[in-house]
Amino acid sequence: MDARTKMQESSSQLSATSYQSVPTFPLHSTNDKAIPLLGFGTAEYPFGASIDTMKQTILEAIEVGYRHFDTAALYQTEQPLGEAISDALRLRLIKSRDELFITSKLWCSDAHHDCVLPALKKTLKNLKLEYLDLYLIHWPVSVKPGEYELPVKKKDLVPIDLKSVWEAMEECQALGLTKSIGVSNFSCKKLETILSTAKIPPAVNQVEMNPMWQQKKLRKFCDEKGILIESYSPLGAKGTLWGTNRVMECELLKEIAQAKGKSLAQVCLRWAYEQGVCVLVKSFNKERMKQNLDIFDWKLSAEESRKISQLPQFKGFPAGEFVSDDGPYKSLEELWDGEI
Ligand code: A2P
Repeated sequence: MDARTKMQESSSQLSATSYQSVPTFPLHSTNDKAIPLLGFGTAEYPFGASIDTMKQTILEAIEVGYRHFDTAALYQTEQPLGEAISDALRLRLIKSRDELFITSKLWCSDAHHDCVLPALKKTLKNLKLEYLDLYLIHWPVSVKPGEYELPVKKKDLVPIDLKSVWEAMEECQALGLTKSIGVSNFSCKKLETILSTAKIPPAVNQVEMNPMWQQKKLRKFCDEKGILIESYSPLGAKGTLWGTNRVMECELLKEIAQAKGKSLAQVCLRWAYEQGVCVLVKSFNKERMKQNLDIFDWKLSAEESRKISQLPQFKGFPAGEFVSDDGPYKSLEELWDGEI
């Protein structure tokens, strides 16, 4: 069964009590819980700037119905997410932590075999949780241990040993500290490298994906290998280090949104969902949070999808930060293995 059929089956089995009818997908994992295909992102740039408001924002997101949250050691949002979860339990917005799907990510300075388990334990401590639902290698990049910052210092870039880092990720899953493991920002070639030695294949590859960067090749590859794509920056992440205005200013998307009586953001989110991926979106505004959940009872027409599929492509975040004449990736071509 291909990923799409599996997803359709799983969404048709949704019970009336599931959160806001967000469809779910059974990941490759030790979890008896499936992943909700719409999640709430918590990367706010500059990192740490909105820590005070983040807990309240996440609490509001839980209140309006989000049950899937995405954080990372880099973002400095693990702690506010943990506090929001404690408050949500206390306020009885949720009955148990198990109702939530929580993802975090291993930062590049911990992408060394012996740093992985301590990094995950620190993440769990920040979150005040006993387990993650999903733990991802944030980038196919290692830097010398110690720093948690983006951009990384180019002089600190060192080659990543994917085999040994992935073995440590597998150990984390075997210990029950995370229910599933995956990667982020990986090309087909780097996924092949992991798959060639993995005992547990990556469940997820979280990548930039929106109508202006559709990831057609990577999606086909991941579908064949049973790896779920998660889309970050589905709205283009306007105003961030990794963002672009091109998505929210796209004339075609504006036209489609107007014709359908939906917002441009909803058109983007619906488009990504219809491609068979999990979508991670973030809004600090309660009305927009709700609006972004409201994408599951209408469709794009075949003609609208065809027009979107023909949009010129532009990668918002090529991540030149990880390229250096003296580092392991000497060009963007090498970092992305030509998928740029
Ligand atoms: P805000 O928090 O003010 O709503 P991405 O998910 O691609 O990273 O984009 C996140 C950005 O998009 C945030 O700046 C967020 O701003 C904005 N955003 C989120 N949802 C919507 C929406 N429905 N309409 C317009 N902008 C949105």
